[in-house]
Formats: sequence, C-alpha cells, structure tokens
Amino acid sequence: MEYKLVCPCIFGLEKIVGFELRRLGGEEISVENGKVSCRGDALTVARANIGLRCAERVLVEVAAFPARSFEELFQGVLAVDWAAYIPKNGAFPVKGWSLASQLASVPDCQAIVKKAVVEKLKQTHQVFWFEETGERYQIQFSIHKDQVSILLDTSGEGLHKRGYRAHAGEAPIKETLAAGIVDLARIREGDIVYDPLCGSGTLLVEAAMRALNIAPGLRRTFAAERWQTFDQKAFSLARQQALDEADPGGDFEGYGFDIDPQAVELTLQNAKLAGVGEKISARVEDITRHKLQDAGGILLSNPPYGERMLGPAQVKAIHQALGKMHRYNNLKSYIITSAPHFEEQFGKTADRRRKLYNGELKCQLYMYYK
Ligand SMILES: C[S@@+](CC[C@H](N)C(=O)[O-])C[C@H]1O[C@@H](n2cnc3c(N)ncnc32)[C@H](O)[C@@H]1O
Repeated sequence: MEYKLVCPCIFGLEKIVGFELRRLGGEEISVENGKVSCRGDALTVARANIGLRCAERVLVEVAAFPARSFEELFQGVLAVDWAAYIPKNGAFPVKGWSLASQLASVPDCQAIVKKAVVEKLKQTHQVFWFEETGERYQIQFSIHKDQVSILLDTSGEGLHKRGYRAHAGEAPIKETLAAGIVDLARIREGDIVYDPLCGSGTLLVEAAMRALNIAPGLRRTFAAERWQTFDQKAFSLARQQALDEADPGGDFEGYGFDIDPQAVELTLQNAKLAGVGEKISARVEDITRHKLQDAGGILLSNPPYGERMLGPAQVKAIHQALGKMHRYNNLKSYIITSAPHFEEQFGKTADRRRKLYNGELKCQLYMYYK
C-alpha cells in the first residue's frame, strides 16, 4: 500500500526532518511550517517511526479535500474506505483542529467526522454498533483555510518518548529538540561531548545515540505495528535494518556535570536505559567552579533560562562560566536559551543563531564553531 506520510515537528527543525525522511526511504519530500510530508510504503512508515529523531509523530493521510459545510465534511470522510484501515473491533477516537476556516467549531467537526466513519464502517463491516474494544486507530483531522486533511496516527505515543527517560529532572529538554541540536552540532562517531548542566542527560544521550547510529525508536513499540490492517512484516524488517546499521561499540565520549546529585544520578540511569551507559559519565560539579583544562570537543547545553529555576544574577554567572569553559577548553559550543543578553554575558557573538521553540518558549540556539 502507498501512503502519504505527514510528520509534525518543532518549528525550526523541518529541514532536518526532511533529510531524515529522505534517508529513511521517503519520496517526494515536502517541507512546510511545522510539518514534513513524503510518500512511502508500509516499510517507510515503520522506518520513519523507528528512525526519526526530530519529528513528533508519523501520521498517514487518508483523505484531503476542501469543505466549507458540515455536509461537505461528512461526504469527504464517508468517501474513505475506512474498513481498509479499521477492523470491526478497532477503537477510533477522533481529534483535530481548525484554523482560519468556515468550519470553526472543533467539537462539531469532531462529531461529524466520527459519524461519517461509523456510517461507512457499518456499510462495510455489516454491524450496527461498534464496541471499540480493540486496538486504537487514532483519527486526526486538520482544517486550514477550508482545506481538510484526514489522518491516522501510526505512532501512538509521541516519538519523543524513546523509552529511556524513565524519570526526568526539572525542566528537561524534549528529546526531539535535543536531537535537533545534536544534528545542528553535527555530532559524529568519535566525538567528545560535554554538557556542564546536564539535568537528566537528554542532550548527551541523544548525542551518543546519534554518534553510534542507534535508532531512537528501537526500545519502544508503535500503534501501527498492532494494527491487523497494517503490513505485519514492516516493523520487524525496519527494526532489523536499524539494528544492523547501529554501531553501539563505536567511539563516543559524553561527560555530564550538574550541581544537583539527583540530576547526575538520572543522567547515568537514562544513559544506561538508552544502551549508551558505557559511553557517558557524569559527576556533581558547579559550573561556576569548573576546573579548566584544554580538553577540546563539543559543548551542548540547555542552561536554566531564569524563567523559574534561578534569578538573573545566577543565570548571568552560568553564562559567564559557559563562556570561560568554551574559551579555555577550545570547544565548539551549542547553547539553547530564552534568556536575554546571553552573548554579552558569554563574552562572544555567536557564529550563527537559530530560532527554536522549547515548548511555548521562543529560544535561540547560539552556535560557536570555534
Ligand atoms: C534546564 S536544566 C537542564 C535540563 C537537561 N537538558 C535535561 O534534559 O534534563 C538545567 C540544569 O542546570 C543545573 N544547574 C543549575 N545551576 C548549576 C550550576 N551552577 N552548576 C551546574 N549545574 C547547575 C540544574 O540542576 C539543572 O539540572
């Protein structure tokens, strides 16, 4: 079966997701604000779920049409061969959103979509009541400028849930955003990476997995692999391919520091769960007292922004300490923050800046190449 895959992502990471999808077998890649689409078969869907580091989920589009009335919406959804996707006992909740469109009431649209799917399934499955006790086939609709897209969520839990972060510290960075920073920092096998404010270790773990080519989805399952209507071989094949490509014994060194002993513990635990425990070490250390040594390597960090964890004076001291660490250790540095005056306090203008959203917070990734 041919699919159109639609992969939402954090604003600013679209291009990276486009490259990832191409590498994973996607064709006719198209990049828009906050999402990337491509064409592919069941194997591409499985490979995308297992291998995408920066996308939030993998949806497949089952219909796209214009609609300005409930009747048009109903007919558009009714035209889909739903039985090809949803079996008799499948659960098929509906959610969605509408923006700048005639059909503005999301609850009403939700009810219409559900009704149309039920009507069509009644015809094909020859039943009059759906118990919905089986696997979940999450239906998602989006209506933008009167254009409707009807999608099925093949991921289930969001792709940021890799299965290694059993516990997160305070203000953890989302795994998909951390992976985007790792990509922009061009982390490779053989790299030495530092995070002097490592929290739960997300940046270090994502860096290690990237360097060793360990696919982020190897330790979890996805909704579509439990669908009886989906090619049953696709996920096992994709998982085997990802395992064959991984190099868990390759060279990589990650060093984490944090003032909080619990954070250090979390980093070590999460690294172990992710299968990169031998590549990452961590210890308690206050960055403002960091002992300088000409280490070389790459610094990745997500320091406290001063929004809730620390006050402006402490944030400034951390920025100054990061600047010193960068200069005296001959590092390349990639630091994400929403705090104002970062470059001034760090002591150097960034070679490049990239706007990225950490949840609702507009941040900058400051990139220093030397
Ligand atoms: C925003 S969190 C980092 C979250 C991390 N990226 C993650 O994914 O979990 C900032 C971290 O800085 C640590 N921290 C605050 N002040 C510090 C200092 N002076 N030296 C070292 N670490 C510090 C906090 O304990 C916290 O874990």
